[in-house]
Amino acid sequence: MPEFQWDMTYVLGIEELDVQNKLLRDLVKKYFDDFKRSDITVPSLKSTLRVLLAHVGFQFDFEELCMKQTQYVNSEEHKKEHEHFRTMVYELLGLPEERVKQALDQTMRLNNWVQYHMLKSDARFAQYILSSNRQSDRIFQCDSTVRQLIQKYLRE
Ligand SMILES: [Fe+2]
Repeated sequence: MPEFQWDMTYVLGIEELDVQNKLLRDLVKKYFDDFKRSDITVPSLKSTLRVLLAHVGFQFDFEELCMKQTQYVNSEEHKKEHEHFRTMVYELLGLPEERVKQALDQTMRLNNWVQYHMLKSDARFAQYILSSNRQSDRIFQCDSTVRQLIQKYLRE
């Protein structure tokens, strides 16, 4: 199963979006790593999926708010991708216990979605923000100490 290796090609240049994408990648990687373990229990796998769902609930809402505030033209298309990811997670959560550890294709699709979405759709949105100088908007401003911590986390 291919690993999703984080590197600086995933960094969009907007810390508030980058830190959330790195967290998303870390959670999907945890699910992948756990999925491969023979000693993992299904409740534990489902618990990771619920954490993932909680995280994307925050992340996607934040991104969508940014899109609204910056009047991003491709927001509807982007939101549909977010919804598709949530649906995939809900489908895995809804699987009967005996099928969760067999769901290799579905697990790989989560991984592929995250890579594709970050490199294409999120990158496109970040480019829009950067090219229109919208990163100075209040929504993108965080404390300089937080910014330093994020920068460190993104390089790990
Ligand atoms: Fe997104």
